[in-house]
Amino acid sequence: MFVHIFDQRFIIFTWFGNDRMMHDSPKRAVRCVRLATEDAPALSSLESRCFALPWTEQAFAEAFAGKTFHAFGIRETASPLSPRELAGYIAVYHTPDEVEILNIAVREDRRRHGYGRLLMATALQDAKETGILRGVLEVRISNAPAIHLYESFGFRQAGKRRGYYQDTGEDALIYTLDMGQTRTNP
Ligand SMILES: CC(C)(COP(=O)(O)OP(=O)(O)OC[C@H]1O[C@@H](n2cnc3c(N)ncnc32)[C@H](O)[C@@H]1OP(=O)(O)O)[C@@H](O)C(=O)NCCC(=O)NCCS
Repeated sequence: MFVHIFDQRFIIFTWFGNDRMMHDSPKRAVRCVRLATEDAPALSSLESRCFALPWTEQAFAEAFAGKTFHAFGIRETASPLSPRELAGYIAVYHTPDEVEILNIAVREDRRRHGYGRLLMATALQDAKETGILRGVLEVRISNAPAIHLYESFGFRQAGKRRGYYQDTGEDALIYTLDMGQTRTNP
């Protein structure tokens, strides 16, 4: 069990197999769970809330059919959200050497509650347990919240792709993480 001060509050983290529990208020318990094909509808619904070009349900179903795709999601109990609804999720690809962070998103009304940090910690720890020691991701140069989150885990800028995003012409920053030297627990 981990006890960690976060967001000026005490949060208790407990491992139950692949699930990680977080109590962020006396009432609401938060679980970070491994997702599977049956979560594709909830994932695409969350994507639609968070992104202009969301992944579709079919895109998630196809991704889950491959062995390299992994996703974790946050569910709440004692919450207005339905049991299958997701408050946040992270999706990654595993290669033999790297975990590539494909996407991470938290519902607007749940941001700054530590959910992004919990998702990132869970995905990195899971990759580390399979022997992966390097992380990589791309992020829009304007996405300050995501950049702060990644840098707080030790990701460092390794390059830039000019005009990478077709919708805005924005640059993509490439970030890498040496997990051999970094804690992946929050
Ligand atoms: C990026 C995102 C996932 C962060 O989720 P979150 O649950 O709000 O993040 P957390 O509460 O766990 O915050 C963790 C850290 O991220 C950083 N962070 C999060 N939101 C931030 C903001 N608005 N401004 C600056 N830093 C921020 C901080 O370093 C924060 O640590 P701190 O609270 O100790 O300062 C969320 O903002 C989001 O869903 N954004 C839209 C989707 C998106 O852009 N995804 C990234 C695609 S590359």
